[in-house]
Amino acid sequence: MKEKGGEFVWFDGKFVKWEDAKVPVFTHALHYGTAVFEGIRGYAAKNNLYIFRLQDHMERLHRSAGVYSISLNYSAKELASATVELLQKNKMKESCYIRPLTFVGLHGIDLNVTKSSPTHTVIITFPFAKYFKGEGIKVCVSSWRRINDSTTPPLAKAAGNYLNSIMATQESKRNGYDESILLDLSGNVSEASGENIFLVRRGKIYTPHLADSALEGITRESAIKIAKDLGYEVTERPISRTELYMADEIFLTGTAAEIVSVSSVDGHVVGNNGKEGPVTKGIREMYEKIVSAGAKEYMNWLTPVWQTQQK
Ligand SMILES: Cc1ncc(COP(=O)(O)O)c(C=O)c1O
Repeated sequence: MKEKGGEFVWFDGKFVKWEDAKVPVFTHALHYGTAVFEGIRGYAAKNNLYIFRLQDHMERLHRSAGVYSISLNYSAKELASATVELLQKNKMKESCYIRPLTFVGLHGIDLNVTKSSPTHTVIITFPFAKYFKGEGIKVCVSSWRRINDSTTPPLAKAAGNYLNSIMATQESKRNGYDESILLDLSGNVSEASGENIFLVRRGKIYTPHLADSALEGITRESAIKIAKDLGYEVTERPISRTELYMADEIFLTGTAAEIVSVSSVDGHVVGNNGKEGPVTKGIREMYEKIVSAGAKEYMNWLTPVWQTQQK
């Protein structure tokens, strides 16, 4: 975020003015990427603000921290309550992004981060609209491979992992694409730089399984549930690059990107005309209905911020 978002940042249990939420330059995470984080969305709808799958995001933050023995001193429930309070304090009424971050603090240059290394947790909120502009995005297969479980675990949402995503993003933008798809070390499709990927062939939906170096995306899991509820078969299996060229539909899922249709891959038009297909459309529309509190059966995915206002 370049500009100031909400007036307050939640910093280790306190509400601190945005300008005062600062860290020393010797902060370990600045030097070594020793931080784990989440990206969460809040949706303005029905005279309220609804946070999508808040508890699930905070639980993933805990799992990511656990992988690196980064101690997280607040439970998922405490972080979820802190988020609601922060949004209230920031008087947030519009759709927004929520960024919880846990990072290693003053630990010197020692790489042996343990459960007793000092850590801090912040939550930042700011207004946020669409991530990709327009309908249907142009993607390329990156020449950079996705990080692998044998080097830096992709299942942990750790700050350092994003250097890999940044290399792929820079390459795709330089070459005029909207987003990049990374292959895993064995050459199978893994995921996009900041989204999971799905393809549709003959009415069936496929997505790489998590062992193909993909993040366990919360939107991915939501899309799988929505697709199954809509009656589609969803299979997690290895996907080759060429299958992307043969797909009837391709879509990406992610908190920032939401559910977005892919119009071409490496210049190969997806489906007949690159337009969003019926399967993607059905899932995207249902997702949009859910996040704007329009689907009763999925209301347990939403946390209202302004409970008192609705009474
Ligand atoms: C590398 C990567 N894959 C997938 C996703 C999608 O995950 P989610 O749906 O939980 O936002 C993200 C988003 O944070 C990501 O950074």
